Amino acid sequence: MPASHLPSPCSAQEVQLLRDGYWDRTAIVALDDGSKRVRKISKGDLSAGPWGRDNLRAEANYLATLESHLQDFFAPLFATWDEATTGYDMGYMDGYVDVGQIARQQLFNQDQAEAMQGYLGLRLFQQLHTSSTAKPILVENIKSTLKKAQLCLQEHAQLNCLLGQIQVNDLAVAPLQDQLQAIYNSQVLANFDTSPQVRLHGDLFLENMLLPANDTGADWPHKLILIDPISVAGIGAGHPLFDLGKYESYATGELPAMRQQRLVLQGFDEPSFDGTANRYHWAIDWHDDAMQGFKNINWHSRMRELYIQHYGPVDTAMYELLQAYFAAAMVVCTQGREQQARALKMRASLQLALR
Ligand SMILES: Nc1ncnc2c1ncn2[C@@H]1O[C@H](COP(=O)(O)OP(=O)(O)O)[C@@H](O)[C@H]1O
Ligand SMILES: [Mg+2]
Repeated sequence: MPASHLPSPCSAQEVQLLRDGYWDRTAIVALDDGSKRVRKISKGDLSAGPWGRDNLRAEANYLATLESHLQDFFAPLFATWDEATTGYDMGYMDGYVDVGQIARQQLFNQDQAEAMQGYLGLRLFQQLHTSSTAKPILVENIKSTLKKAQLCLQEHAQLNCLLGQIQVNDLAVAPLQDQLQAIYNSQVLANFDTSPQVRLHGDLFLENMLLPANDTGADWPHKLILIDPISVAGIGAGHPLFDLGKYESYATGELPAMRQQRLVLQGFDEPSFDGTANRYHWAIDWHDDAMQGFKNINWHSRMRELYIQHYGPVDTAMYELLQAYFAAAMVVCTQGREQQARALKMRASLQLALR
């Protein structure tokens, strides 16, 4: 069904709330004829600011302008509107779960995980990543995000110990101010806006992909449906490494480990854990039961192989700068052990971006 541009959504009853976000609400709704949809709608005056609404508008527009050969790769779009509220209706993928759950619950074996990555990589790099003429915004975004993370560390009584020269996992890390200065003056940052841009998914991680929860035969891994394009920072176009970096940060187990604090962290509570000050260590706790899905099944290497086949070798400095940027974005909105790990990740990745 083509998307209709309605001034307001058609009448429907909310059946089940899926996500109550800062700026928008995602819920299963039932129409008067009993059929179900998923409705994503801005919170209007309840919202914490205007940015969420701009992002939702961009998300709806992204889905509404997908070429016909890509429409089966996303949940079908039924309607969009942009007046008193902004939002869109999409098909409810009944019986589907997000691929993060498939990974955690070990529903796929290695062959299936590779088949999923093969399918995703093929469609992403060959069909979705078409060239884009959108105004490049990534460099400004990276700079302002790193700046915010720096301020956050400066004002944080337990984290300002990370501002100076430190060691993270045996890597010598320069003071943050020096790192930022070097990054701002480097080609690695400029590369993001000068290299050709492609349309991105923008928030490509396993929880924004759906698959049937139960075995549907040999083609199960190919029933993949993407949702929720465009990152919170409004990135829908840019360097193709953005999508790979986001994908890998989750599929390697790192992001789930950080979010659920399945981590080994040293250096904060006992500032000289090996007798030397300013040494820190962080790692995923691979002994934790919750991490076994990512330990036993490799959810990422096939995607990288396909990226390299399509785009050539990964630029390590750009890759690390992206990892630092993703970490920095979370430094400012997390706390406790997750925030400590994000901050260490940011500092180490910035250093690796400068090599
Ligand atoms: N069309 C859909 N069909 C079934 N479940 C969905 C659908 N869209 C979203 N969901 C579920 O709701 C969750 C939140 O939706 P999402 O669009 O990713 O919102 P957010 O922007 O808050 O991350 C998803 O992770 C998924 O579990
Ligand atoms: Mg999501």
